[in-house]
Amino acid sequence: MLVTSKQIILDAQRGKYAIGAFNTSDMEITKAIIWAAEKMKSPVIIQTSEKAIAYAGLEEITAIVKVEAKKSKVPVALHLDHGSKLEVISECIKAGYTSVMFDGSRLPLAENIIFTRQAVEMSHRAGIPCEAELGAVRKVGEEESFTDPSEVAEFVKKTGVDFLATAIGTAHGVIVGHTDKPKIDLLKKIRRKTSVPLVLHGASDVSDEDIKSVVANGICKINIDTDIRHTFAETIREMAKKNLDDPRDIMAQVMKDIQKLIEGKIETFGSKDKA
Ligand code: G3H
Ligand code: 13P
Ligand code: ZN
Repeated sequence: MLVTSKQIILDAQRGKYAIGAFNTSDMEITKAIIWAAEKMKSPVIIQTSEKAIAYAGLEEITAIVKVEAKKSKVPVALHLDHGSKLEVISECIKAGYTSVMFDGSRLPLAENIIFTRQAVEMSHRAGIPCEAELGAVRKVGEEESFTDPSEVAEFVKKTGVDFLATAIGTAHGVIVGHTDKPKIDLLKKIRRKTSVPLVLHGASDVSDEDIKSVVANGICKINIDTDIRHTFAETIREMAKKNLDDPRDIMAQVMKDIQKLIEGKIETFGSKDKA
């Protein structure tokens, strides 16, 4: 069933586990995510970036996720990941997204607060929750800009945001052979400043041990994209060696491998059997 992310994340906060938020841009990844969630009996968030929307088309990707979610036995939320403009937030709300993120993390604090507040008001008018980011989760290779705990209480109070994305040392993307180390001390300081559920971005190359530790310290939503892309690409490379000529045979294996990857993530996040 299609749900907003509010209740499933609040349940996760109470139960001390995290909901996986997995990025999609097509039918195959969407189906694989939902199959994994159903097998694990877990609620799940399916999210699209602006780039994914540009790739698939807003109407198309919304229709795919909604159809699959409505047929599903587990709660599924459709979330906008890293919305950079209020117009995009508005379009996604109109299209039927059940959750959005406004990302003003590269703006000065005062502007981040002003725009986030507007995004929150738009979302709440539509009855859906809004995530926002304080500090900036870098891309691999970019400068680190950690969340400053002294700004957290003011940001949450002035924006009314439902979930807060934290920059605690993980990066978007992965470097082969490298593991991101979230700063648990920083997370604890952030946690002490607010009771809103916290979000971890850039979680693809974080060890299971560190994932368990961030979840124990207040992370309730965990974003995964790069691991899915790597599994997709690796399976395509393997299947190419078999000289198959029916794309459906190739994509069936891609979906199987992504499903398996996501089942493992759900196990680590602790949301198995929580649907
Ligand atoms: O956090 C960013 C996500 O991984 C989306 O990446 O903009 O390349 O779709 P993308
Ligand atoms: P990764 O690509 O590092 O998994 O990060 C995903 C993410 O944070 C999406 O918002
Ligand atoms: Zn992110």
